[in-house]
Amino acid sequence: MTVLRLRGFEIHKALLDPDAQRAVLDDVRKVVKAAPFFRPVTPGGQKMSVRMTSAGKYGWMTDADGYRYAETHPNGQVWPAIPDTVLAIWDQLTGLDRQPECCLINYYAADAKMGMHQDRDEADFRWPVVSVSLGDEAMFRIGGQKRGGKTDSVWLQSGDVVVMGGEARLNHHGVDRIRAGSSKLLPKGGRINLTLRVVE
Ligand code: SIN
Ligand code: FE2
Repeated sequence: MTVLRLRGFEIHKALLDPDAQRAVLDDVRKVVKAAPFFRPVTPGGQKMSVRMTSAGKYGWMTDADGYRYAETHPNGQVWPAIPDTVLAIWDQLTGLDRQPECCLINYYAADAKMGMHQDRDEADFRWPVVSVSLGDEAMFRIGGQKRGGKTDSVWLQSGDVVVMGGEARLNHHGVDRIRAGSSKLLPKGGRINLTLRVVE
């Protein structure tokens, strides 16, 4: 296991071995059964290419009413609890007393991507965001606090975990593309990304 630092993001390569990845995936599947993936729409009316759901007290959402955290799934139900296997990753890497209140779950099919953005709907940017990659590799791009300007990119593989915190907490980031068929973890292919966030 090695740790790379890129533009202030800490990239823990292969933090999760294949058994740990499968354990997290099994738990994520239970969450998705209770809170199915949906296709979010940006405030501007664009359908996003990722499919999304959440676990925890809050889920991250976007629709015509804007980007926000919501206490219920679009179907009206509260979100399932964040699985212990996922909270354990947060505990291991952050060592914080505080636990996240949202685990956003994004599913990327082969043609999905995510534009450059900041994670800034949380109340306090002193808390880090922790991001777990499962399944197919993704080209992850990291910029600075300002939009535009220089960026660097890195392939994230299944089992890699990124900590976006400290000075880099508001750095722009996005996913350029998915390398289809690069992992066997998800039987139907694609990539799952979990992001853990302290919301309140
Ligand atoms: C995100 O920024 O919400 C997702 C990052 C990723 O998919 O790696
Ligand atoms: Fe993000």
